[in-house]
Amino acid sequence: MSSGVAVPGGLQQLVEPDRGYVNPVIYTDPAIYQKELELVFGRSWLFLAHRSQLPRAGSFVQTYMGEDPVLVVRQRDGSVKAFLNQCRHRGMRICRSDQGVSKTFTCSYHGWGYDLEGNLVHVPKESRAYRDEIDKTRWGALKVPRIAEHKGFYFGTWSDDVPEFEDYLGDMAYYFDAVAGAWDDGLEFVGGTAKWVIDTNWKFASEQFASDMYHVPISHASAMIALSEDPRAWAAGDPPDEAPGRQFAGNGHGSGGFWRSHLEHAEFSFGPEYRDWLAANQDEIHRNLGADRPDKVLAHNTIFPNFSWLGLTPTMRVWHPRGPGQIEVWAWTYVPAGAPDRIKDLIRRVAQRQFSPAGVFETDDGENWTEIQLVLRGYKARTTTFNVQMGLGYEERDSHGLPGLSNDVYSETAARGFYQRWLELMSGLTWAEIGEREAARRAGEPAALPREVQKA
Ligand code: FES
Ligand SMILES: [Fe+2]
Repeated sequence: MSSGVAVPGGLQQLVEPDRGYVNPVIYTDPAIYQKELELVFGRSWLFLAHRSQLPRAGSFVQTYMGEDPVLVVRQRDGSVKAFLNQCRHRGMRICRSDQGVSKTFTCSYHGWGYDLEGNLVHVPKESRAYRDEIDKTRWGALKVPRIAEHKGFYFGTWSDDVPEFEDYLGDMAYYFDAVAGAWDDGLEFVGGTAKWVIDTNWKFASEQFASDMYHVPISHASAMIALSEDPRAWAAGDPPDEAPGRQFAGNGHGSGGFWRSHLEHAEFSFGPEYRDWLAANQDEIHRNLGADRPDKVLAHNTIFPNFSWLGLTPTMRVWHPRGPGQIEVWAWTYVPAGAPDRIKDLIRRVAQRQFSPAGVFETDDGENWTEIQLVLRGYKARTTTFNVQMGLGYEERDSHGLPGLSNDVYSETAARGFYQRWLELMSGLTWAEIGEREAARRAGEPAALPREVQKA
C-alpha cells in the first residue's frame, strides 16, 4: 500500500486511540480529508442501497462512495451491480436522476449510452465521428468491483483486499441483525430519501452514532421532556444512573445504548397502537433474535466508516463527506416490510418527528456538530487535544451476554475503536496488516503500528 499521510510528527502523534487522545486538526485539514477519500472511503465497504429501493430489473438509485457518484442498478438476473456515474467521454454524470427504472443510461452531454451494467453500448454518429474505430468494450463506466448483500442491504467497495463483508462486519453483525434480521420479510425503506447538509466533519457524526450515549441526557433533554409523559423524571436526570446499558466496539464499528424492554419503548415513542401491534407479533422477533436481544437493541450504531442507524427510532443514514467541514446526510426511515400500511405510516411519522431535518432530536445533534466545526476555525482551537478517554481500560470481551469487546454504555470504547481503524487505514496499512493487528489485540497483545509507519 502506498504511503499514508505526511503530517509533521506523523498521524500517530495526532491520534492516539490507546491513550484516548485526538487532535482536532483531523476534522479540519484539507490534505487529511483528501487522503481520507483515498485511504478510508476508497478501501472500506460502503453502504449503497437497500433491497426495497431496487424492486425490479432496471431499478436504480444514484448515491456516493465518499465523493464519487455511483449508480446502483438491479440487473435482469436479479443481482445488483454498481458503477461510477461518470461518462468516459468527458466525465459528465451518466445518469442525472436520483432514482427510477431504466433500460439504458444516456449521457446528457453528447449522448453516449450505457447498459444496466455500465457497459458502453451506444456512441452517436459512431461511423462518421469515430470511423467505426472506437472499441466500445474499453470505454465502459468504471465498475465497483465488489458488492455484498447482507439481509437486503447492499454494500460496495473499490478495494480488492478488504476482507469479505461478513468478516469486515465481524461481531457487529449481532447488532446490525438486531434490526436488519428481526422480521421474516426483512425491512423496507419508506418515504424516500431525506437529504440535508450540515457544516461539520463526517467523523463527528459517525463517531457519535458509534459511541455516544453520553450526550443524550444533556443534548436531548428538552426534546425528552417535551415527549415524556413524566417530564419531571427527565428534568431530574433520567435515565437513572443505574439504568443498564452497554457499548460494543469492533473493526471500527460501534453500537451503544440503554437496555430497555422494546415494548415499553414502543409505547413511549410510538404510542399504544404500535405497542399492541408489536406485542401481537413478538413471536416472530423472538424466533429471529432470541428472547432477550430485542430488549438489548442498542440505540446508536455505525458501520465504519459512515453508515449509521438508530435501533429505537427507525432511521438509517449515510454521512456523505463533502470536504473537511461539511456532510450531506442521506436518511431513510425503515419499517418491517410485512407490517400493515397504517403501522408503516405511524412509524414513518414518528421517525420524521424525531429524526429528520426538522426532527426534535436531529436538530440537537446537528447544532452541536456545526458549533464545534465553527470553534475549530481558530488556530489554537484546532490544535488543542480532545479527551476520548471515557472508560479507557475497563473494556471486557464477550461479557454481559454480548459478543465482542464492550464496555459500560457511558464509555468511548467505540470511539477509540473508530479512530483506531481510521488511523490504520490512513497510515497506509494493508488490510492484511490491519487483520494481524486486530488479531493481536484480540489476543491481548500490544499492537503498535509497524516501525516504518510510526516514522512516516
Ligand atoms: S461527456 Fe458523456 S457523451 Fe460526452
Ligand atoms: Fe443525539
